[in-house]
Amino acid sequence: MSNEATANMNNVNIVDHPLVQHKLTLMRRRDTATSKFRQLLREISLLLGYEVTRDLPLQLKTVDTPMEEMEAPVLKGKKLVFISILRAGNGLLDGLLDLVPSARVGHIGLYRDPETLEPVEYYFKVPEDLPSRRVIVVDPMLATANSAVAAVDRIKRAGAAQIKFVCLLAAPEGIERFSTAHPDVPIYTAAVDRCLNSHGYILPGLGDAGDRIYGTK
Ligand code: PRP
Ligand code: URA
Repeated sequence: MSNEATANMNNVNIVDHPLVQHKLTLMRRRDTATSKFRQLLREISLLLGYEVTRDLPLQLKTVDTPMEEMEAPVLKGKKLVFISILRAGNGLLDGLLDLVPSARVGHIGLYRDPETLEPVEYYFKVPEDLPSRRVIVVDPMLATANSAVAAVDRIKRAGAAQIKFVCLLAAPEGIERFSTAHPDVPIYTAAVDRCLNSHGYILPGLGDAGDRIYGTK
């Protein structure tokens, strides 16, 4: 894997809000404690969620204010679905649910085989009516994109047609692979880092997201 990778960025939305960038820098620091890391991820996910939901359709409804009746906007259509790629996806999910408490939630359990870097699925549970709902798939790290591509393959097989992918950090190699496999699925990320190392870790990155969220190493 190269020292500096490149990717076609047509499908990528970088959330460059100063608060996101500041919090991400704190998360990257080796000495940031587990509890702080989790809290920062929850805070950032609110801001990422704000961007990824920006184009949700609205419709007008009649509302009685204490003063008079008016036509006011409310979200149109069925509730959103967040699908978390376990386990690190749950670190983003919590903040997104603070933002959209009525969203439905699905889970896909995947881990990367450390030798092959191929994803191994161990769990899949999503709402039944995916075809009629907007789906937002969440995982903090898009490295080789093997996990994200497999997750979206599986979610499409379950019928989802309107999908977005949200992560915290992406590698150019992962963006290239994901955009080639799923050109219809936009990526939202706080940053695109330099490249992957020979073990498929993002450089400079922030280490293993799951371990940092849950303190398992
Ligand atoms: C991490 C991360 C992604 C995956 C990204 O999960 O949360 O799911 O690696 O790597 P990729 O783009 O090369 O597939 P991991 O497999 O470590 O599992 P965990 O969330 O259970 O810790
Ligand atoms: N998964 C992680 O958690 N971190 C990386 O850098 C790559 C994959």
